[in-house]
Amino acid sequence: MTSRYRVEYALKSHRRDEFIEWIKGLLACPFVLHADVEHFDSQFPQLYNENPDDSDIYFKNHENVVAQDCQKRYLEIFKDVENLIEHTILIDEINDKDVFQNSTSRLRKLVPSLGRFFTPLPLSEAFLIEDERRAISKRRMVSPSFNDVRMILNTAQILALTKIYKDRTKTNLKLITFDGDVTLYEDGKSLEKQSEVVKRLIQLLKMGLFVGVVTAAGYPKQSGAEKYYERLKGLIDYLNSTHCELTKSQKENLLVMGAESNYLFRYNSEMKGLKYLENSEWLLPQVKTWDIRKIEFIMSSIYKHLIHLRNKFNLEDSTSIIKKERSVGIIPNPGCQILRETLEEMVLSCSNKLSLILKVDSKNLDSVKVCAFNGGSDVWVDIGDKALGVESLQKFLCQNESEELEYCPIKKSESLHIGDQFASLGANDFKARLSACTVWIANPIETVAILDDLINFMT
Ligand code: IMP
Ligand code: MG
Repeated sequence: MTSRYRVEYALKSHRRDEFIEWIKGLLACPFVLHADVEHFDSQFPQLYNENPDDSDIYFKNHENVVAQDCQKRYLEIFKDVENLIEHTILIDEINDKDVFQNSTSRLRKLVPSLGRFFTPLPLSEAFLIEDERRAISKRRMVSPSFNDVRMILNTAQILALTKIYKDRTKTNLKLITFDGDVTLYEDGKSLEKQSEVVKRLIQLLKMGLFVGVVTAAGYPKQSGAEKYYERLKGLIDYLNSTHCELTKSQKENLLVMGAESNYLFRYNSEMKGLKYLENSEWLLPQVKTWDIRKIEFIMSSIYKHLIHLRNKFNLEDSTSIIKKERSVGIIPNPGCQILRETLEEMVLSCSNKLSLILKVDSKNLDSVKVCAFNGGSDVWVDIGDKALGVESLQKFLCQNESEELEYCPIKKSESLHIGDQFASLGANDFKARLSACTVWIANPIETVAILDDLINFMT
C-alpha cells in the first residue's frame, strides 16, 4: 500500500531511523545530480531524429554509462561513511579507557542519536552486493530508499561478523538470537516443520553456534515450556526426530528467553523439550536487586493507564487488558482489530506514562528496566528488555567457573540479534542494540535471506 497515509505514517519522527535517513540524504545528491536520463550529451536529440534504431542502442549504452557513474558516486559515499564509523569506534574506545575523555566523533555530531558499533561495517562491499541484487544505481526515477539502506547495513553487518569469523585470531560469531513474531514466523503464527527458516536454524546449530529466541511473548515455567514448544514446534520436533544429525550438545545450544528477559528455557535432550531454568541460575546481578514492590507499582500504574486509554478510545467491547506477572498488555478480542493509529497512540502514551513514573521516583525506580511496544495488533509494557535478555544469555553461557570454556567470554561483537522492531520508540528489538550487533528485517522471508548470506559467508 503506497498511499498518502502510508507516507505520512513513515514520516513520524519515532518511526524514523536517523542514521538511515542521514545516509539516504547523502545518496540523494548523486541521484539528483547524476542519475537523470536527460543527462545526455548533445548528440542524442539529433541522433534520435536521424535514426531512431541507432538512438535506441545509444540510449541503452548511455544508460549503462550513467549507472556506472552513479555506482561510483554512491560507492564513494559508502566508503566515506565506513571510515566515519571506524573513527567513531576508535573514539568510543578512547573514551572507554579514560573516564576524563569525552570526545564526540564527527559521525556522532552529524547523527546525535547514533548507537555504539561493535564491529566495523564494510559498507562499500555491502553496497556492491546489494546494488547487484536491487539495481540501485540503475534506477532513474526512484532514489536510494530506506529499505535499500537498511539492506546494505544488514549485509555489511553480516560481512563484518563473518569476515572476523574467518580470521579466528580476532573474534568470531558465537551467539545468534532471534525475535519471534514477524522474524521467525508470521505474526501470531508458529514455526512449521517445513518452514524454510527451520533448515537454516538447524544449520546454525550444526556449525556450533548458540541459537537463542529472545521474544516478548512471556510465559513462565511449565506453561512456558508448552507455549514456546507450540511456537517452535517445527524446530523442536526435528531435534527430537530419529533422522536429526545434530549432537546432544549442538541440540542443547538452543535457548529461549521469554518476556524480553524474564524466563529462560534450554532444550534438554532427556526431556525432549524445553527445560525451564530457575532465575537463580542465570539472572544478571543488576536484575536480582530489583525491588518487587517497585515492579508491582509500575505494573499497576500501567494497568490503570491502559484502562483509561481503553475507555477513552471506546475499546471496552473489542479489547481485553491482560496482566501477567511481568507484563501488562491490551489485545484485540477475537474477530476485532485495534486501529493502527490507536495502537500507536497507546504505545506512545504508555511510554510517556513510564517516563513520568520513572522520573517522579527516580531515586528508587530508575534501575528497573521497562519496555513499551506496539506488537502490530496489540500493545505491551514488559518489565525488562531485550538488551538484558541478550546479555543474560551471553553471561549465562559463560558462567561455569569450574570449566575453562573455549568460547568464553561472548562479547557484544560476537553476538548478533535479528529482529523486526527497531524504531526508536514503541519497538522492543531496538534495545538489543545495546548488547549485540543487529540486523533489521521486515518479515520471515528476509530472515531466511540474511541467514543464507551468513551461512554462505561463513562456510
Ligand atoms: P516478539 O515479536 O517475539 O517479541 O513477540 C511479540 C508478541 O508477543 C506481542 O506482539 C504479543 O502479541 C505477544 N505476547 C504474548 N505475551 C506477551 C507478553 O507478556 N508481553 C509482550 N508480548 C506478548
Ligand atoms: Mg517481532
